[in-house]
Amino acid sequence: MTLRAVATGVGHYLPERVVPNSEFESFLDTTDEWIRTRSGIERRHFAAEGETTSQMAIAAAKNALDMAGLQPDEIDAVVVATSTPDLTFPSVATMVQSGLGMTRGFAYDVQAVCAGFIFALTNANGLILSGQAERVLVIGAETFSRIMDWTDRSTCVLFGDGAGALVLEARTGSGTSQDRGILSCDLNSDGRYRDMLYVDGGVSTSGASGKLRMQGNPLFRQAVSKLTETAERALEKASLGSADVDWIVPHQANIRIIQGTAKKMGLPMEQVIVTVQDHGNTSAASIPLALSVGVQEGKIREGQLLVTEAIGGGLAWGSVVIRW
Ligand code: ACO
Repeated sequence: MTLRAVATGVGHYLPERVVPNSEFESFLDTTDEWIRTRSGIERRHFAAEGETTSQMAIAAAKNALDMAGLQPDEIDAVVVATSTPDLTFPSVATMVQSGLGMTRGFAYDVQAVCAGFIFALTNANGLILSGQAERVLVIGAETFSRIMDWTDRSTCVLFGDGAGALVLEARTGSGTSQDRGILSCDLNSDGRYRDMLYVDGGVSTSGASGKLRMQGNPLFRQAVSKLTETAERALEKASLGSADVDWIVPHQANIRIIQGTAKKMGLPMEQVIVTVQDHGNTSAASIPLALSVGVQEGKIREGQLLVTEAIGGGLAWGSVVIRW
């Protein structure tokens, strides 16, 4: 018997305000056409004034708990992936814990920018396999609109806000790749690339939260090869290959990166969950948002094989293979 971390619930939350590309045309030298053709983004959601990362995380978590049929106090651990916390500390995860009315368990944040959910999921899997927790809430939640430079057309049109959550529960499997649950993980980072994507402020430097800076084109060139490599490595660790995959659930940064990765993996776009047109790049929230939308639309079904992959600031990148 092998212990497995099985997804039993998924949910998401998107802020009410939807911002179409055309809104940027009024204050930037850009067009709906440029944004659509270069990134695949058509609209994104922006948090309302006063709406925080933890509030969105709590809303997504409630939806995931509902689907799993669990009460908050049945959860042992909350792991939140975010780069845009409400405060420097305490963690968003502890705010989620209190917001859900949990009086037990433990909670902490993980920060690996757009790859954050992959790192959090790997971490939560480790908690379950090592017996630290039986039920873990894994959340990706971001308010990237708060770190945008609204005069920089090369970044501010790309990002959005939102949250997605997953409930993982310990179950026993047979130890084969037919088991439901997380089958393998692959994590990578390389700090030599840290200047490619960063925020120009922080606690021990400027004392302010800063604005996002990105060298989009060099990052774009890194993305497809690194994402394909990590997804293929994760599949190999589970003794699987691309032919076994039902769905790629990629980080939603740019449709051209998503298409390039699917092509390199030899899979058609019909087997890729795509939400970038509606959400933009929501950083650590993008994969759980895509999972939740994919389930809601009836695409992702129990027993199917999913490969998730993401790359972001650091650079940090990785992949998790899950049988749903
Ligand atoms: N509207 C009009 N023109 C623009 C805009 C805009 N919004 N933004 C940039 N341009 C211009 C540039 O100034 C440039 O003009 P120039 O040729 O006169 O200098 C031209 O468009 C082309 O710019 P490129 O940067 O070469 O365009 P590219 O095809 O690379 O697309 C993009 C840019 C969309 C940013 C792409 O590079 C990309 O998606 N990069 C990767 C982003 C990513 O994956 N990030 C990782 C995750 S994010 C995270 O971790 C937080």
